[in-house]
Amino acid sequence: MRAHALLLLTSLFATACGPSSSVDEGLGVIQQLDTSEQGITAFVRSGQYTSWLAEPTVHETRAPHGSKVRVFFNDLLVQSLRDGNATHPMGSIVVKELFEDDGKTLRGHALDVKIAEGPGKDTWIFYEGFGPDYSNNYYGRAHSTCHGCHSDGKDYVTSPLP
Ligand code: HEC
Repeated sequence: MRAHALLLLTSLFATACGPSSSVDEGLGVIQQLDTSEQGITAFVRSGQYTSWLAEPTVHETRAPHGSKVRVFFNDLLVQSLRDGNATHPMGSIVVKELFEDDGKTLRGHALDVKIAEGPGKDTWIFYEGFGPDYSNNYYGRAHSTCHGCHSDGKDYVTSPLP
């Protein structure tokens, strides 16, 4: 009886605080991106996206994403936006760097990755996290905090190609 209670307590604790609190939609690697919360955090922190097509400068946001931003598009998404597609192919990824008011100090990242073909919020994982720890992130397929504004865009992408 007591052992059982202890076990329950331990697993509750692990869920709330341990590394196992990291969430995973279970979709694996898409376009070389590990789409778990941990995988996306590692990816944005690595800065690998900085070789992608980017907006030329940091600019004021039109959204509640911190005051200054810069957006990066992977090749699949660039091609799809150029083609004027109504929906983007699976593996499309867009990253937004979020800066302090000075426009230089990086605070965090938002990332959207297309995880299925076709239309609708369920075809995207939405992520947003802030440094230094990226410990309290938004993460999830069709995340309820994110999809509303983004439905104004073209298949949830609101930034035009630079
Ligand atoms: C109140 C509206 C609003 C909400 C809520 C919102 N966004 Fe955005 N988002 C925008 C706008 C507008 C842009 C265009 C760039 C800018 O002005 O910052 C944008 C840009 C982005 C971009 C760059 C690609 C693009 O679509 O332009 C990403 C990635 C992103 N948001 C992720 C998220 C995530 C993740 C969430 C939820 C945690 C979220 N957004 C919630 C309005 C919103």
